[in-house]
Amino acid sequence: MKNINWDQHINEMASGYKNSAILLNALRAGIFESLGEDWKTVAEVADGCQLDHRATGIVLHALVAADILLQDGERFCTEPEARPLLLEGSPKTLKSILGHNLFMMRGWAHLDEVLQTGQPIRREERDEAQMRDFICGMENVSRISSQEVAAKIDLGSAQKLLDLGGGPATASITFAQAFPRLQCEVFDLEGPVNIGREQIVQAGLSHRITTVAGDFHTDDIGSGFDVVYLANIIHMMDEQHTLSLLQKSFKALVPGGRLLLKDFFLEDSCSEPAFGAQFSVNMLVNTQGGKTYTRSGVFQLLKQAGFTDFEVIDVGIHSQVIICLTPSGE
Ligand SMILES: C[S@@+](CC[C@H](N)C(=O)[O-])C[C@H]1O[C@@H](n2cnc3c(N)ncnc32)[C@H](O)[C@@H]1O
Repeated sequence: MKNINWDQHINEMASGYKNSAILLNALRAGIFESLGEDWKTVAEVADGCQLDHRATGIVLHALVAADILLQDGERFCTEPEARPLLLEGSPKTLKSILGHNLFMMRGWAHLDEVLQTGQPIRREERDEAQMRDFICGMENVSRISSQEVAAKIDLGSAQKLLDLGGGPATASITFAQAFPRLQCEVFDLEGPVNIGREQIVQAGLSHRITTVAGDFHTDDIGSGFDVVYLANIIHMMDEQHTLSLLQKSFKALVPGGRLLLKDFFLEDSCSEPAFGAQFSVNMLVNTQGGKTYTRSGVFQLLKQAGFTDFEVIDVGIHSQVIICLTPSGE
């Protein structure tokens, strides 16, 4: 039995949106960039960001209350340990994924409609800045987990890796740096793949990582790969599309090749772990048929696609990688 203070628990659940809205909108308004490493007054921040003075003052004080800012009389400064996570260009930045969270939060406000219709919310296509937040946000979240995958799974004998839906190319860059024989190919839609290419050039790895723009549902994804890396993809899709992509991945592999399927997975109850159960609501709101899959449900789809053996590896706090083997053909 969990020992729960119900009054506190329900009140915290009911008001959780407040801190999200304060943090994410302050970030979008440019408040942390404006503060940089300095101490500033409300007027200096408001004028720097072209914001209303009264509103800025109230939000700055709420950020102090939430331990994100420090206050010294009339002046404010970002908490030094939070700063690298909030500022653009820092190696630890979460700025893009936080921007993506703001975009998601606006959709969650319509969960009432989704509950009635069972359909994701209808919204305009992401604009250029929102698409960049989404794809670069994936870099923010995949940076550490890709390093962990490279440390835990030996890809030293592999020569060709397909990073399917590879977005910002974070995994390919990490794997190419860790395994000198590996050639990677990032396959994604045109906009995201252009962002991936920028990252590859910046990492000086254009000779080791190529990009292909295409739709993995309808286009040929190539063949002859030793490894297919499918990270944070299947939760966007219903079971039919997931099975079809797993079958395509199987065909793209050489005999004895490996699919590395990274995602958040649920236990059979579908309510544990809490992160996965909550993430499934995110997919309900934002995708046609996406969800957090149970591990056992994914094993069934993998077997249907032709994979024979599985090993599960924990990566980061919430994710796992299922290493899926194809028959060796011997
Ligand atoms: C959640 S992101 C994951 C990105 C990357 N694998 C990672 O873990 O950092 C999903 C990716 O799938 C790509 N994607 C979605 N639908 C696609 C499609 N039909 N064909 C190719 N890529 C697609 C998106 O553009 C995005 O880059």
